[in-house]
Parts: sequence; structure tokens; C-alpha cells
Amino acid sequence: MSIRNLDDLLAEGVSGRRVLVRADLNVPLDKQTGDITDDGRIRAVLPTLGALVQAGAKVVVCSHLGRPKGAPDPQYSLRPVAGRLGELLDARVHFATDTVGESARTTVDALADGQLALLENLRFNKGETSKDDAERGAFADQLAAFGEAYVDDAFGAVHRKHASVHDVPARLPHVAGRLVLREVEVLGRLTGEPERPYVVVLGGSKVSDKLAVIEALLPKVDRLLIGGGMCFTFLKAQGHEVGTSLLEEEMVETCGNLLARADGKILLPVDVVAADAFAPDAAHDTVPADGIPSHRLGLDIGPETVAGFTAALAGAKTVFWNGPMGVFEMPAFANGTRGVAEAITKTDAFTVVGGGDSAAAVRALGLDESSFGHISTGGGASLEYLEGKTLPGIAALEN
Ligand code: 3PG
Ligand code: MG
Repeated sequence: MSIRNLDDLLAEGVSGRRVLVRADLNVPLDKQTGDITDDGRIRAVLPTLGALVQAGAKVVVCSHLGRPKGAPDPQYSLRPVAGRLGELLDARVHFATDTVGESARTTVDALADGQLALLENLRFNKGETSKDDAERGAFADQLAAFGEAYVDDAFGAVHRKHASVHDVPARLPHVAGRLVLREVEVLGRLTGEPERPYVVVLGGSKVSDKLAVIEALLPKVDRLLIGGGMCFTFLKAQGHEVGTSLLEEEMVETCGNLLARADGKILLPVDVVAADAFAPDAAHDTVPADGIPSHRLGLDIGPETVAGFTAALAGAKTVFWNGPMGVFEMPAFANGTRGVAEAITKTDAFTVVGGGDSAAAVRALGLDESSFGHISTGGGASLEYLEGKTLPGIAALEN
């Protein structure tokens, strides 16, 4: 890879220099309390931040959180993240209440060597996500003024052509942080010559989100196991009735074509947990995949499917998993995701978990993170990487 990384920057010496770090601190928040429900993305960036602090840099961290619309919106403030980051680093995090305004300028100016500041949400500014090059560029100019060097450690956002990801590196000496480097190394193993059998497990709610990656992966994988909300569009394409399950009617034909071209590589559920309603306490039963009652919706894959998926995973040498198998947030519908996750940890394979939701599922279900080879911090980013797309944030780091 022709990308310079953090070690190259550290070798030049960063003591007393201002280093702007783009992180992906877009963590899930509890809707009621606003508490951080999963701090995995904050922990993932600690190696980079810790190394810079240790080396005496003045570290200026920026990130997005959620999808505010280009103006300040308190529910998307990064302030709680500053608190958690400070706890994890065991250091004070100086928080700026704006991104490139007065507060940011005074906060950055006041930094001593080895201190760290976090700027308020990048997406409180129109320029961050603007499709207009000049508008994005103007915002990138303001951000770049806070650093003498730029580190991209926001793997989850490298697929976005945003000012902080794509335009700032054109304005400053730039390197990849430890997280971005590791993610690219791992995903590169999957796109290169993965050891076989190579089994991919896909879940999540929408086929339309996953179509491109299914197309790209089909020729490369030995087995593609499909669960989650998206399986019902495939089941429908096989001619089964799916009751009131999630269905993308306009994708049925596409799914049928994929199945026809898949050479038997695609494995679908043979049983599902069908419920009266989308609710934790809804009445539910396990039914055959071709026998979903018309008034019920599937909320998880069934035990026979878990057994079949487990058998398909057993001899694998490489596994990539993206997307939960069911509504794992509700205990009654978490068995499919748990069963498949456990099956993945029991293989001898090199295993990669891709994506926000599946990574959060691993932690929410109390599974041991260290029993997976790699847990990616990027959902969309890891999928687009596997699709073979050019990622604006990675391209910007190449010289
Ligand atoms: C993510 O959560 O997928 C990343 O942080 C990117 O966020 P976005 O999808 O809102 O651009
Ligand atoms: Mg996303």
C-alpha cells in the first residue's frame, strides 16, 4: 500500500506540533437517556490518539455523530463522547462547543504539548457533507488550519466524500492512523486470495443495501448464508408466502435472478421465528420457511437454520459476517444471531465481523470480542471496500 501511516509521522517527530485527527466517533446513543450504548468506536481509535499524546503532539480530534442537517442540533452533540473519551484515555479532553468557530479556535490555541481537544460535530456545518466542491473546500480550509499534519483514523467514514475525509488531506501532510491501516490490511485479505472455503454470512434488513456486495461476492465465495430481514425477499422469490414479514416487493425479481445464478452457493433459512407483532413480548412460534402464517412476520431465523448455517460454517477457512440474523435487541428474537455468531467463533477460520450493527450485536450479546479475528468499525465502509469500490477517504491518502 502506497499510503504513509502513523509510524511515518511519529518518526518525523510530532512533539509540539498540532495534529488533526479525523475519527469516527459516531456511536449509538440511547434514545431516551442519550447515554452511549456501545463505545466500541471510541475504543478503536485509542491506539492512534494515545500514541500522538505520548509523543507530545497537540491533538485536535474531529468526528461526525448521527446525521444532523448542517446546523447545530443538541441531540447530536459530541459532548458525551468527549466525556467517555477522557475516561478511556485517562486524560482531560478539551471540548470545543463549535467545529471551526470561536470556541474551536481558543480551545486549539490553548492546547499544551500532549493535550487533546475534541471539536463539536463536523456535520453541524453545511460544508462537511456538501456536494459542492467549493463549499466543501472552504470548510476544509478552516479545518486544515487547526493542524500541521492530518491523520485519518475514521475507517467507518472513508466511503464518504466529505470535507474532513476527502478534502482536508489534500491540504495537509496526511497519513493513515492505526485503525484505518488495520482495517485495510484485514479487508485486503478478503479481497485478495482468501483461504478457502470462504463463507459469507449476510443479514440486516434491506436487500437493496446489500445487492451490490452480493453481486461482487458471489463469484468469490464458496457459500453465502442469508438471514435477517432481507431473507424474506429471497424466500418470496422462491415462491413462498412471507406473511407480514419485511419485504422489498420491487427486489423480488432481482433476488430470483441472483438465486438462479448462484450455483447453489446461496443458503436461505429453512425455518423462521414468526411473531404476531414487532414487539418484545409478541406471541411467536418457529415455523417452516414455506409456512409463515399470513398474519405473522418473521423476526428471526429458526433453530434448524442455525444448525444448517453452523454446518456450512464448520470447515470454513475465511468468514465474513455482516448484519444480524434477527431482531437481536429483543431477547425472544436473538437466538439466530447468537447461534450464528457462536458458530463463527468455533471455526478455525480467519473471521471478520463487518459493520456497526453486527459489531454491536457481538458486544450486546456478551460474546467474547477476542474470539473473532477482526471486528470492523465500518458498516457501509467495509461493504463498499469488499465491493471493490474506490473509497474517497482511502484514495485521498494515496499520494
Ligand atoms: C456509520 O455509522 O456507518 C459511519 O459512521 C458513517 O455514517 P453515515 O452513514 O451517516 O455517513
Ligand atoms: Mg451508516
